Amino acid sequence: MLNKEKLVGVGLITLLHLCFFSVCVAGQNQPCRPSSCGDMLNISDPFRLKGDPSGCGDSRYELACENNRTILNLYRGKYYVEEINYQNYSIRVVDPGLKKGNCLSTPLYHLTPENFSYDHPYAWPYDWGFRTTVLMSCSRPISDDKFIPITSCNSTNGTTSSSSQPYHYALSGDGESLQVGDLPGSCTIGKSIFSKLGAASEPGNRSMSSLQDQLLLGIELSFLQIQCIRECRVKGQSCYMDYTVNSVKCDDPNSCKDLSDDCYKPIWLKGLIIILQIIFASIYTPIIAAGILGRALLGVVLSYGIYKLRQRHISKHDTTKEIP
Ligand SMILES: *[C@@H]1O[C@H](CO)[C@@H](O)[C@H](O)[C@H]1NC(C)=O
Ligand SMILES: *[C@@H]1O[C@H](CO)[C@@H](O)[C@H](O)[C@H]1NC(C)=O
Ligand SMILES: *[C@@H]1O[C@H](CO)[C@@H](O)[C@H](O)[C@H]1NC(C)=O
Ligand SMILES: *[C@@H]1O[C@H](CO)[C@@H](O)[C@H](O)[C@H]1NC(C)=O
Ligand SMILES: *[C@@H]1O[C@H](CO)[C@@H](O)[C@H](O)[C@H]1NC(C)=O
Ligand SMILES: *[C@@H]1O[C@H](CO)[C@@H](O)[C@H](O)[C@H]1NC(C)=O
Ligand SMILES: *[C@@H]1O[C@H](CO)[C@@H](O)[C@H](O)[C@H]1NC(C)=O
Repeated sequence: MLNKEKLVGVGLITLLHLCFFSVCVAGQNQPCRPSSCGDMLNISDPFRLKGDPSGCGDSRYELACENNRTILNLYRGKYYVEEINYQNYSIRVVDPGLKKGNCLSTPLYHLTPENFSYDHPYAWPYDWGFRTTVLMSCSRPISDDKFIPITSCNSTNGTTSSSSQPYHYALSGDGESLQVGDLPGSCTIGKSIFSKLGAASEPGNRSMSSLQDQLLLGIELSFLQIQCIRECRVKGQSCYMDYTVNSVKCDDPNSCKDLSDDCYKPIWLKGLIIILQIIFASIYTPIIAAGILGRALLGVVLSYGIYKLRQRHISKHDTTKEIP
């Protein structure tokens, strides 16, 4: 009789575990074949392309494929994806308005690090640095070689260029080092363009062509947020992102090391399992029940391990008993 109860108990616990485990597996993103678009092969988890099977990738990281170009819709802008690096969680995007040519084209969209909200799937980490390029129109020519003479695509027709400021220049430098205060009085500031920090422009190649190459590197954004979601939020913990090493830290100091425990996502579920285990365990072994209760009270969530041990112990016990 006791044996039957035990078996029912074990069966129920096993069912519970299997059930929660399968829920956990189903909720996780399934391994999918990488997608490709134009030159971009291996678009893989957490990214997905519009139209991929619904279980693939993460919907927060959906990209589109238009005319063989991979597109990232970011706030009000639509950017070309140039490169995805899964090791350092970086995605490099370029504004479609920027083009190589004999005049300097400008971005279609205005995007700065301030555009990014804290919880957005993408971040523009200050730690990664960026280059700022300021365009300006001047009434007199400037001989300082920091000022790169440019031909603005707007003014090639002579239509939009104001005749009082016919000289166009660009000043480019690190986010911090660019001193707009240096501006000669005869100039007015136009657009600012941000780009990835590239090779520093040597005085020898401060040309419009080099500047275009620099701007066409685009900007580098981080998708490290996905690690926060997958490693920390799942456990109800908060997360710190370190963009200098591109890794995350969950804030729970006694986070459990047992991977199987990660599957019980909500804390109430863990609690429920522990309570059920205590109830079932108390049916046959009050000592183990007390042990579990003690552990639960201590806040240690290694109950799965105990359960496994206990299960092994019980099944051995049962088989020896059942053999006549
Ligand atoms: C894409 O992935 C496959 C297999 O994972 C690998 O052989 C191939 O080199 C990768 N291609 C690129 C461009 O990363
Ligand atoms: C995309 O690329 C494929 C092969 O690389 C080509 O057959 C197709 O015409 C291209 N489509 C567009 C819209 O450029
Ligand atoms: C970034 O923010 C500015 C100011 O709020 C806004 O004008 C601009 O459209 C935003 N950029 C994008 C790409 O949405
Ligand atoms: C990420 O790695 C790629 C390839 O090694 C590199 O080009 C890129 O600059 C790196 N980005 C960051 C932010 O470390
Ligand atoms: C080109 O003209 C647009 C407005 O038509 C202006 O916003 C932009 O700053 C101009 N670009 C340059 C490089 O002067
Ligand atoms: C150049 O001028 C032509 C007509 O004179 C106009 O249709 C075109 O839009 C102009 N291009 C630019 C870039 O201003
Ligand atoms: C500057 O010129 C050197 C060689 O002259 C080249 O290797 C480097 O890429 C250039 N830098 C930029 C930003 O174009």
